[in-house]
Amino acid sequence: MIIEGSRILVLGANGVLGSYISELLQSKGAQILGTARSNQSSVTLNANFSERLILDLNDPVSIAAVASYLISSELPLDGVINAAGVVGFGTVEATSSQMAAMLMQVNHLGPAELVTQLLPVLKKSAEVGNTPIVVGITGVVAERAFPGMAAYVASKTAHAAWLSALALEIRRAKIRVLDAHPGHTETGLASRSVFGSAPKFPQGLTPEHVAQVIVTAIERDATSLTSADF
Ligand SMILES: NC(=O)c1ccc[n+]([C@@H]2O[C@H](COP(=O)([O-])OP(=O)(O)OC[C@H]3O[C@@H](n4cnc5c(N)ncnc54)[C@H](OP(=O)(O)O)[C@@H]3O)[C@@H](O)[C@H]2O)c1
Repeated sequence: MIIEGSRILVLGANGVLGSYISELLQSKGAQILGTARSNQSSVTLNANFSERLILDLNDPVSIAAVASYLISSELPLDGVINAAGVVGFGTVEATSSQMAAMLMQVNHLGPAELVTQLLPVLKKSAEVGNTPIVVGITGVVAERAFPGMAAYVASKTAHAAWLSALALEIRRAKIRVLDAHPGHTETGLASRSVFGSAPKFPQGLTPEHVAQVIVTAIERDATSLTSADF
């Protein structure tokens, strides 16, 4: 994919991985449309982004508003990178169905709905000769389960499976899908869990490294990044 001149939507562009990925892509000439969850958190979005948007993946109205805004501009969209997400910790017995549903909504159903609604503008990018891409960062949990994280593992595994099916369906439209499986990364995500508290993890990957591997894979038209690739 030629990054120079591309127009890329980054969900969670104010998060740690989202910021590094956005800044790397921007340094290579991409226009970044970055999202944050709320008005309050949007102040941490990079002021140099082409557009700064509010998107709450837990709110179908917010998802529909962002999708219709992007579709109404009629401009091709060359990529959607989902660097948004939430984690929660606790045994199966200690996790309520409401908490599990929230993780499923933010980590899987919300981004799946947004990408589905944006397919017309991604197709437009392919029609004008670009190589649009949908990127997920489901993580190593898409490869194997960990105890005390069932709700998170379930939401990320669901999203990984959805991305695999999507890849098969949109291949003919020349839209690529890349799902990245980094292991634990030192972004502080675990300390911001929406329920429960994190176990002690061994030292993780650096976010700079994870972002660099993902951006290189985007440039090289890769369609998978396993945990071993990090
Ligand atoms: N860190 C790791 O070990 C690791 C490993 C593998 C995969 N991942 C995945 O990588 C992605 C980025 O994580 P990170 O480590 O960079 O964490 P982070 O710094 O906490 O970033 C999380 C991002 O998600 C956004 N977000 C949270 N709830 C949202 C909602 N309801 N609607 C829209 N956006 C929402 C946050 O926006 P606000 O700040 O505006 O709330 C923030 O931009 C996540 O999907 C995570 O699961 C992380």
